[in-house]
Amino acid sequence: MAAPVLEFSRVTLIFDDVVALENVSFRVGAGSSLVILGVAASGKSVLLKLSMGLLRPDAGQIYLFGEKIDDLPEQDLFVFRRQVGMVFQESALFDSLTVEENVAYPLVNQEGHAPPPDQVEARVRQALSFVELEQAIDKLPSELSGGMRRRVAIARALVNDPRLVLYDSPTAGLDPITAHTIMTLVLKARDTANVTSLLVTHRLQNGHLLANFRYDAASGTLVPAAHNGASRRTETRFLVLHKGKLMFDGDQEELNRQTDPYVRKFAMRL
Ligand SMILES: Nc1ncnc2c1ncn2[C@@H]1O[C@H](COP(=O)(O)OP(=O)(O)OP(=O)(O)O)[C@@H](O)[C@H]1O
Ligand SMILES: [Mg+2]
Repeated sequence: MAAPVLEFSRVTLIFDDVVALENVSFRVGAGSSLVILGVAASGKSVLLKLSMGLLRPDAGQIYLFGEKIDDLPEQDLFVFRRQVGMVFQESALFDSLTVEENVAYPLVNQEGHAPPPDQVEARVRQALSFVELEQAIDKLPSELSGGMRRRVAIARALVNDPRLVLYDSPTAGLDPITAHTIMTLVLKARDTANVTSLLVTHRLQNGHLLANFRYDAASGTLVPAAHNGASRRTETRFLVLHKGKLMFDGDQEELNRQTDPYVRKFAMRL
């Protein structure tokens, strides 16, 4: 595996009487993808929040870009968070801010590192053009469809050119065609900007797309990744969580061979 971008070593987090994560270890290599599966309340969002220091573990170590971040003071975390994009569950856009202000938010709210205003606008436009939503720049979130809001959330996550992007259920509640559009953007970010991706999803098809497809810039669509041709097959691993415990960590073929009934729920039935 390439040098790990993210590593959890025996991470545990307990809220009052709920064990949100228990003794979880895994690594994600640069440029690869990690698909995180599990029923509601299994610890998926908690895992993403720990990855960028929004939560801290009660035990264990978390390494981001090779540095131990779990006990860093808040002000030392900013430099790491700048290199991580997060697409929050349900998009979490600011209702009273325009699309432009929402996407600009991570740029202008960084301690001492905000670019000058003309650069902010250029980068916001670039991020919106990446998700093909430049025309919505002056709109409010309430004026957008659910799928468009997800695209704005992705633009906001990418505006800082992050090395790692965390997607929390970005296709939940969308129709299959819009969900495919969102996954096309996830693969586009991975394949054109070499972004390392963590994707929480309930939709098995999304993991299949990450593991077996690539973004084709000429057509703007997803095409099967060649297994032994010019383009490399992308490295995609799957984690299955249950009540905070890691039940499975492996590739798609290993997942499909699992016999545990809970893990099998997440195997691809193709
Ligand atoms: N800030 C918090 N305070 C207290 N308990 C929390 C907090 N955040 C999460 N939890 C608890 O930790 C457990 C895991 O929550 P998490 O949000 O990671 O679930 P999830 O797998 O993302 O579920 P879903 O698929 O519904 O989004 C749950 O029992 C939840 O109630
Ligand atoms: Mg969640």
